Amino acid sequence: MTQTLLLLPGDGIGPEVTAQAARVVERLNAVAGLDVTTATARFGGAAIDADGVPLTDATLAAAKAADAVLMGAVGGPQWAGQPYDRRPEAGLLALRAGMNVFANLRPARTFAALVDASSLKPEIVAGLDILFVRELTGGVYFGEPRGVTGTSDARRGVNTHVYTAAEIRRVARVAFDLAHGRSGRVCSADKANVMEAGLLWREEVQALRDAEYPHIALTHMLADNTAMQLVKNPRQFDVILTDNLFGDILSDEAAMLTGSLGMLPSAALGQAGTPGLYEPIHGSAPDIAGKGVANPCAAILSLAMALRYSLGRADLADRVEAAVAAALDTGARTADLGGTLRTTAMGDAVLAHL
Ligand code: IPM
Ligand code: MG
Repeated sequence: MTQTLLLLPGDGIGPEVTAQAARVVERLNAVAGLDVTTATARFGGAAIDADGVPLTDATLAAAKAADAVLMGAVGGPQWAGQPYDRRPEAGLLALRAGMNVFANLRPARTFAALVDASSLKPEIVAGLDILFVRELTGGVYFGEPRGVTGTSDARRGVNTHVYTAAEIRRVARVAFDLAHGRSGRVCSADKANVMEAGLLWREEVQALRDAEYPHIALTHMLADNTAMQLVKNPRQFDVILTDNLFGDILSDEAAMLTGSLGMLPSAALGQAGTPGLYEPIHGSAPDIAGKGVANPCAAILSLAMALRYSLGRADLADRVEAAVAAALDTGARTADLGGTLRTTAMGDAVLAHL
């Protein structure tokens, strides 16, 4: 049965990198028995310019009706001064909430060929394989009340960090299930020492582990210590479970351990049977947008995650991941990795192994 993949190229380098992922889809359709049609919709700043909003109702409906959604990136300086609801980032948050993709998987893995690209010593980062499970539709990103009120010295900015037990448990369950297929270890990061919602997080994660996942080795770590441990001894971690804000921060930190943001994919998953949202972790990179030099690997690896988690083709996900590794092994490098290949040539290098 034909499956549908909705492409949301977005802004900056988004269109350039998603174009390479689309080439991989075409290749797999042709040679590997994949049966996926792609459709493309405007999103982010591109949609603000054309439609007045970063995410139209029609695009959200198309996303929910697809089997999977592959996004490029959103944002850029031309939209930065706008009110929050008319910024590209608001479209991304609305898409995550509208698709109800509450569990964000962010793998940070070091490719053998890139171990020298990290700013940390090779012996610290070689073989690194961390999986972040970040809560994605709650916490301070969405909590009410929010806003700025008052005047002069009494101006007051408010955001609300709030989680329910149900929100904590459903994302913790994803982390435990994924850890089961890995080392069985989960480290949950919170600030239970200063935040009530952090204490609730810790209690609910532990209670779920005790009731349903006795075989999982669960530890809790304060988020600031987690930030430190990630650069001190990152290989102590396997699955790291976090709330929305800590996950945003810690996953960027972990990404740099692997050498380049240009390599890291992500998957945002909701309830079983609903489409996932896949996106490279790198942003829109306005400084290099339109120059044809961006690294398409994170977008291609995000497609691999879509094959694995939404399209039922883990076999092809393995093949795509192996093709990226093989391209790197043969020396293919874009500028972010210290090389000279252009975006299309890097796509060619991956396709050569498919
Ligand atoms: C990310 C990004 C987004 C976030 C921004 C663009 C809204 O930083 O996906 O990590 O904060 O979640
Ligand atoms: Mg981020």
